[in-house]
Amino acid sequence: MKSLIHLLESNQAWAKQCLDQDPQYFDHLAHQQTPEYLWIGCSDSRVPANQIVGLAPGELFVHRNIANVVHATDYNCHSVLQYAVDILKVKHVIVCGHYGCGGVEAALGRRDNGLADTWLRQIKETYLTHENELNGYTSKTDKLARLCELNVQTQVDNLCKTKTLQYAWQRGQSVTVHGWIYSIFDGVIKDLQVSSDSINDVLPIFRMDAKE
Ligand code: CO
Repeated sequence: MKSLIHLLESNQAWAKQCLDQDPQYFDHLAHQQTPEYLWIGCSDSRVPANQIVGLAPGELFVHRNIANVVHATDYNCHSVLQYAVDILKVKHVIVCGHYGCGGVEAALGRRDNGLADTWLRQIKETYLTHENELNGYTSKTDKLARLCELNVQTQVDNLCKTKTLQYAWQRGQSVTVHGWIYSIFDGVIKDLQVSSDSINDVLPIFRMDAKE
């Protein structure tokens, strides 16, 4: 059996470094977590959530999946969202996609990627919704980049449709949903300016009455 001793050794060195800097480091962390942010990002190994926004353990609640998709029936994602909003009372929900996303690229193609194709099918719908704009791109790279952005925008909309966010807004809780995109080419995040922080941002057909 191949050993992962190098990872365990690295972990021990990290834990020691944390304690050298602050002997109470883990005592503080173990007692509570009060993150202000929920991060919904891609599973891509090149987009490590905490690292790229400079946040320490305890500061970012994280959910990641292939191509940062928010499906209406994904209990995993919605459990994370509800816990983050209702219990942890995060102030911000950030959907962060990234340029060069393999999941978005797969959705543009016809290759068989197994189960992931079912997961990614929603991105084909996003493509169809914005087909006229996307057909305007002659460069395949630019087209993919724009679809990566549109996918983020779609997930911001999908989050706003959830009962979790609508009920939070209706009871006056301050929580903003942001759409960001990270460049794996230069490490910089761009705010796509598609933020929502009110039930007025939800299309009427998706709006819920306030909870009794
Ligand atoms: Co990706």
